[in-house]
Amino acid sequence: MISLTINGQATELDVPADMPLLWVLRDIVKKTGTRFGCGMSVCGACTVHLDGAAIRSCVTPVSAAVGKNVTTIEAMADDPVGQKVQRAWMDEAVAQCGYCQSGQVMSAVALLKKKPNPNDQEIDDAMAGNLCRCGTYTRIRKAIHRAADASTAAVDTSLFTEVKA
Ligand code: FES
Ligand code: FES
Repeated sequence: MISLTINGQATELDVPADMPLLWVLRDIVKKTGTRFGCGMSVCGACTVHLDGAAIRSCVTPVSAAVGKNVTTIEAMADDPVGQKVQRAWMDEAVAQCGYCQSGQVMSAVALLKKKPNPNDQEIDDAMAGNLCRCGTYTRIRKAIHRAADASTAAVDTSLFTEVKA
């Protein structure tokens, strides 16, 4: 059995130790907001946090997550930085097709938790591994600056709907 903590919930799963974390998240625990893109650590669609760091879950064996906290896009509506980022994403109308966006948000949140006020270069460096075939990069950068500038005022989380596959 593999013991994991996903979005603060401890769970025991009967899965192979080398199963990619992305498979576990999407197919076993049904956290389908995390996306499959390339499957080879190139596109960033599968980005989640492992102890707060943005990682590519498609190439991370589930055994690497044992004893650590896995955080997915589904937890961002309850996360103060995640709330600011999602609000900024809406205010800047970042998403087009949306496919890459959960990974983009997860990378942005990890960046802002490490660097609350990043400059353009730091944003570009942190987001370089998240590809967007719709070309939303300029709006993503603006939204990250907006989130960094956002006041700490409470956000109405009823505006956020759960991401479906
Ligand atoms: S699906 Fe993991 S990086 Fe593309
Ligand atoms: S919004 Fe379409 S791939 Fe990024």
